[in-house]
Parts: sequence; C-alpha cells; structure tokens
Amino acid sequence: MLKDRISNREARITVMGLGYVGLPLAIEFAKAGFYTYGYEIDSSKIETLKAGKSYILDVPDDDIASTLSQKRFQPTSDAGVIKDSDVVVICVPTPLRKTRDPDLSFIISAVQTLLPYVHRDMLVVLESTTYPGTTEELLAREIENKGLSVGRDIYVAFSPERVDPANKSYKTSDIPKVVGGVSEICGVLAEELYKAIVPSVHGVSTARTAEMVKLLENTFRSVNIGLVNEMAMICHKMDIDIWEVIDAAKTKPFGYMPFYPGPGIGGHCIPCDPIYLTWKAKMHGIEPRLVELASEINYYMPHYVVDRLVDILNEHGRALSRTNVLVLGVAYKKNVGDTRESPAIEIINKLLEKKANVSFYDPYVSSIMTINGILKGLEDISDLASYDCCLITTDHDEIDYERIVESIDIVFDTRGRLRREGIYSL
Ligand SMILES: NC(=O)c1ccc[n+]([C@@H]2O[C@H](COP(=O)([O-])OP(=O)(O)OC[C@H]3O[C@@H](n4cnc5c(N)ncnc54)[C@H](O)[C@@H]3O)[C@@H](O)[C@H]2O)c1
Repeated sequence: MLKDRISNREARITVMGLGYVGLPLAIEFAKAGFYTYGYEIDSSKIETLKAGKSYILDVPDDDIASTLSQKRFQPTSDAGVIKDSDVVVICVPTPLRKTRDPDLSFIISAVQTLLPYVHRDMLVVLESTTYPGTTEELLAREIENKGLSVGRDIYVAFSPERVDPANKSYKTSDIPKVVGGVSEICGVLAEELYKAIVPSVHGVSTARTAEMVKLLENTFRSVNIGLVNEMAMICHKMDIDIWEVIDAAKTKPFGYMPFYPGPGIGGHCIPCDPIYLTWKAKMHGIEPRLVELASEINYYMPHYVVDRLVDILNEHGRALSRTNVLVLGVAYKKNVGDTRESPAIEIINKLLEKKANVSFYDPYVSSIMTINGILKGLEDISDLASYDCCLITTDHDEIDYERIVESIDIVFDTRGRLRREGIYSL
C-alpha cells in the first residue's frame, strides 16, 4: 500500500521544478531517506547539481554532494523518471501575465509532462501557489480524463509552500505544513508524506481550503505592509519617526505584530499572490477592495521614494539630472540575490528616466536589466568619492554602512537600517 511505502521511506518521489521551493524540498525528502528524483527543465541547473553544487543560498553544496553520493538524490531532465515514482510534487512558478492576470502556463505544462506517466497508487501534490480550485479543476480533472479515479486509483492534494529564503531560524524542515486532499484519503496520504520531513502537519478538509490558506497568509502580509507604508507617508508629513512608532507599538504583547515600511514589495510571492486571490474573487462577483488598495499603496512606494529623493536633493540645491546616485541593494529583500519584481529596479528605471546618473552595488547581484539595457553593478564599494547621494533600497547585512555614511553626504535609507541624525529615512 502507498501509505506503508511512504511511512517505510520506500516510496520514490519526483519533485518537478528545482527552484527556491523545489530544490530545498527535494533535498529534505532525500535526507529523510526517500529515493528522490529532481526533474527540472533548465539543463544548466541539472548540470550544476550533478557536479555536487547548489545554486540556492539556503541549500549548502554539502547537502547536494552527500545526497548524491548516498544515491538518494538524482537530478534529471528526463521526465520518464515519473513512471517509477510513487509520489510527484509540483513546484513550478506561478507568475503574473503582462496583463497582471494569473499565469498558470507552468502548471499546465508540468501537468502535460506528468500525464503520460501517471499510474495507479500514485500521490500527486501541487505546491505552487495558486487560486482555489486549481488542484481540482486543472490537475485532478486531467488525471480523471486519463481514466483514473482520484481518491480510488490515484491521489491528489495541495500543500502550500511556506519557505522564506534566507530565513536563518526557519528552513523547509522547520516549518509546519498545511495539506488538503481532493478527497479524504488523498489528504491522509499527503499528511503521511510531509510528516517525514516537517515537525507538524495540519490537515484541512479540501484542496481548495489549502489553496486559500496560502493566499490568506500572503495577502495578510501585503495588506499589513500596505498599512505600514501608508503610516510611513503620514508620519513623514507629520514629522514623526515611523520606526520609533513601530518599536513602541510592538511592546504590546497581544493584538499587534510589527510590519515595516520599505521601497515597495518584490519577490515571487507578495506582489503576485494577492492578485491570484482578487482575480478569482472577481469571478465570484466579489470586488476585494481592501486587498487591491493595499497592493496599490505598495506599488506606489517606488514612485514615492523617487519623489522623496527629488525633494531631498532640492533641499541640498541639487537637480536629480546632475546627480550621481549610488543605489545600494537591488535584490527584493536582504541577504538574497533574487531580483524578481524588485522595487529597487523600478526605482532605478525611474531615476534613469529622470536622467540621473545611476550606479548600483549589491553583493548578491552582478547585473540587472534596466530601461537603458544591462546595468552592471559595482564590484565593491572601495571608491565612493564620486557619489553625491546614496539610496539604500535593500539592507543586506554584509554592507559596510559606516563607510557609506562617512563617504557620501546625502544618504536616504528606505529600510530603517541607519536610524540616526543626518540620515534621511522613510
Ligand atoms: N520563492 C519563494 O520564496 C516561494 C515561497 C513560497 C511559495 N512559492 C511558490 O512556489 C512556486 C515555485 O516558486 P519558486 O520561487 O521555487 O520558483 P523558481 O522560479 O525559483 O523555480 C521553479 C523551477 O521550476 C522549473 N520549471 C518550470 N516549468 C517546469 C516544468 N514544466 N517541469 C519541471 N520544471 C519546471 C524552472 O526552470 C525553475 O527552476 C511558485 O508557485 C511560488 O509562488 C515560492
């Protein structure tokens, strides 16, 4: 029985998509004793992994090398391995289209890859963040069309991924999992699977509920970030320090949790996930006003930062078009190299539109694409003499902020890293 094969670690697992989510997950399954295939369409990633190297900061090379040498982990671009698998976990991207609608093309393509190999007594779990109904309507229905009855012949579930890249306290293996099956037995089997790698598993009644859990978690973040960004703009006008306000508010032991303002939201989750929710809600005749307003405020932040920078330069009798600006940090958050949807890049584009002379430094990112083409980052910050102003957009820990403050007259810190007299902040 599949349940026994999972609990005895005899089940073979294929993880589809070895990115920020899929690679750590595949390694956790392998470390727990499962024979794990990592199926990935990007052949350069497969080559890197086969050489025993990782390309995800949270996954050490040693983990790749040891799971390879113990013959627990097999990276591959051959989808045929799915045929030999008892469990398949799908971790492909769910971005937005240019029209800012959900783009399910990666899930659709992964399902098409999977279908020729699905078989009886197999568990298929979707982990990609998506709107409620995807697991049932897109995955389970396609499998049923192959003549397999979901819940009787084959099992389908959804389990949201909650990994937080660069979080030192919580890695994939420390974060409780939520699972919801298309039927009860589907959920039970998915719970059995995740129990092998995480401290606790919380089962919910349906796959749709599990899909909604993830959207609630990330929409909660988006709304609270929107609120605190709005508070930051109000505080600035009233000459009150937002950071001091937050520090004081968070002393309340209940009913409040701190969120921090910043130059905008980025990454693959917070900018996208609320849009998956609102898109689906509208199909049910609901206009989710609060969620959309929060996203609007968050999307306004890069404009606000540029407007504030113009005002700050004006105070110093400078025009942006004749200013050498050093942008510090282009990753969407600190201590990672992920620039997807990064507000820093939008800010750089706006500065370039306004004819500023822009350079950037980011210890994790060597170049970015801007409206003017590829912009290479500085290799180090040893020579700061030529910069009139520094805009801190990502507060990576390993930057020598004292050097910045000593060398550059005007510093605008959008992350609250340098809270002191003489430094401009949000
Ligand atoms: N990055 C995060 O912090 C995070 C956190 C929680 C949830 N999520 C969700 O997890 C999902 C994956 O996100 P990610 O950040 O890992 O994306 P990613 O872009 O880092 O990784 C996805 C990988 O899937 C591969 N891929 C694409 N189509 C494929 C296919 N048909 N078959 C096999 N491989 C394929 C890509 O080449 C890529 O390597 C998304 O739905 C995202 O919203 C991400």
